[in-house]
Amino acid sequence: MANVTVIGGQWGDEGKGKIVDWLASRADLVVRFQGGHNAGHTLVVGEQTYKLSLLPSGIVRGTLSVIGNGVVLDPWALKAEVETLRGQGVEVTPERLIVADTCPLILPIHRDLDALREDASGKGKIGTTRRGIGPAYEDKVGRRAIRVCDLAHLGHLGAQLDRLCAHHDALRAGFGEPPVDRARLERDLGEIADFVLAFARPAWAVLNQARRDGRRILFEGAQGVLLDVDHGTYPFVTSSNTVAGTAAAGTGLGPGAAGFVLGIVKAYTTRVGAGPFPTELSDAIGQLLGERGREFGTVTGRKRRCGWFDAALVRQSMAVAGVTGIALTKLDVLDGLEEIRICTGYRLRGAPIDHLPAHAADQAAVEPVYETMAGWSESTAGARSWAQLPAQAIKYIRRIEELIACPVALVSTSPEREDTILVRDPFSG
Ligand code: IMP
Repeated sequence: MANVTVIGGQWGDEGKGKIVDWLASRADLVVRFQGGHNAGHTLVVGEQTYKLSLLPSGIVRGTLSVIGNGVVLDPWALKAEVETLRGQGVEVTPERLIVADTCPLILPIHRDLDALREDASGKGKIGTTRRGIGPAYEDKVGRRAIRVCDLAHLGHLGAQLDRLCAHHDALRAGFGEPPVDRARLERDLGEIADFVLAFARPAWAVLNQARRDGRRILFEGAQGVLLDVDHGTYPFVTSSNTVAGTAAAGTGLGPGAAGFVLGIVKAYTTRVGAGPFPTELSDAIGQLLGERGREFGTVTGRKRRCGWFDAALVRQSMAVAGVTGIALTKLDVLDGLEEIRICTGYRLRGAPIDHLPAHAADQAAVEPVYETMAGWSESTAGARSWAQLPAQAIKYIRRIEELIACPVALVSTSPEREDTILVRDPFSG
């Protein structure tokens, strides 16, 4: 049975929520494998809008949802999100939600450190979500993390807390902050432990069994390839690998499990937070894309930066992430534009270059090379077949496919689940 891995093909916010929701309705399990509650997925189901940050999107429709070991888990954020969903009538039970017992925890000290660093960074600010994601991953790799399974053994945390607090106390002192309030941390962990432990299981075992049973698994990526800590616009990236390969390491399934890799790609480009953005528009068109596309962050409410479609960047993303096919989203936002530009490559200090260079200074210096296409005056909103699309819009899609060297599997034409043109079913492989 084919599995599907959904990842963002740009800087996140490509409209993954709707596509994941649609695929989740046909999957047996939905699994998060990286990131944390820095993600923001909006699902519109009938009259209801659900905003998810940490929970897999399958939870809304009752599909078995798994938070894999690659996720950094803020237990208080988990509780708040579960309670909000329960308030909206969604059942969240241990039968429907599994949290890997090896997930590292995001603690209040991680949130503190994220904010302290950002505030002290001046022009070097990354523009993080300030949710403690980076510091939590650092402690995981530094072998100082408190993990979900530790919540069942709070009496044995002494040595681990010694290492963790020694590290954070030194950092905090550098910022003029008092040492970690260890007693409070232990008390807070004691209070939240039972809530998290109710969902804790060896997720790898559940997933491997599901695979043996031939069940369909949907891996739900967060953020986007250009925010990948290795392949993105470093250092203006998140602290995890957002490429499809992480679905294996971040869940405890082998590399063969990823199946069809569906890259979600927006018909133009947006970015939230700092960092290079070659096709950014600071003119009326940028403004228009932001307004029509409702480009405000789900998590932080920040206004997203907007620009033309950057085929050079997406071509690179598709390659490094091993994308099988794309879902093109928000095409309707371009409706009515007289002309549409596509970035096909760059010039770096006068010389042509077909990819984004590695160094941040070069990334900031590249100038986009555009080709211009005629736009379309008709509406594409709500189209459900190629026949309902204007010829010029089809031309735009075909040109994108050609430039990014990756075929279109789906086109999404509104936030409604049914407003989708299906070209190739990812679950059929
Ligand atoms: P962090 O993940 O909070 O450390 O933030 C690092 C960078 O990733 C910042 O530029 C954030 O704006 C960006 N980022 C993190 N999560 C998302 C997301 O889900 N969508 C878009 N950008 C994100």
